[in-house]
Amino acid sequence: MATPRAHILICANERPPGAGKPSCAPRGALELLERFKVRVRELGLADSVMVTKTGCLKHCSRGTTVAIWPYNLWYQRVRLEDVDEILERSVVGNGQAVERLRMPDIPWEWPTPVLLFPPAGHDGPVV
Ligand code: FES
Repeated sequence: MATPRAHILICANERPPGAGKPSCAPRGALELLERFKVRVRELGLADSVMVTKTGCLKHCSRGTTVAIWPYNLWYQRVRLEDVDEILERSVVGNGQAVERLRMPDIPWEWPTPVLLFPPAGHDGPVV
């Protein structure tokens, strides 16, 4: 692949139970990642569009979080049924937004502080 013309970032972070903060993997991020990859191939975009699984994109309470570059489009609560519309508008359509999914311009959600004394059943720090 040459330099991609668009890059789709999908948060698939998973926190352990009791982390005190939600994460995207339990909300179907891996299925979403697969759907994006399959549809990019089916649409003949595989040579120009990169789909990447990421860690936390800092909007955990609004996941599954998806970002589309170079358009700096951020989407919240993305579901499988949103994939085609995102590809059609934001990728094929060169950066048109799917307004109903748009992430509000809000501060990032930083990880919760490490618990020095994690709850029973955890053997390490909870972040
Ligand atoms: S866990 Fe997905 S945005 Fe933080």
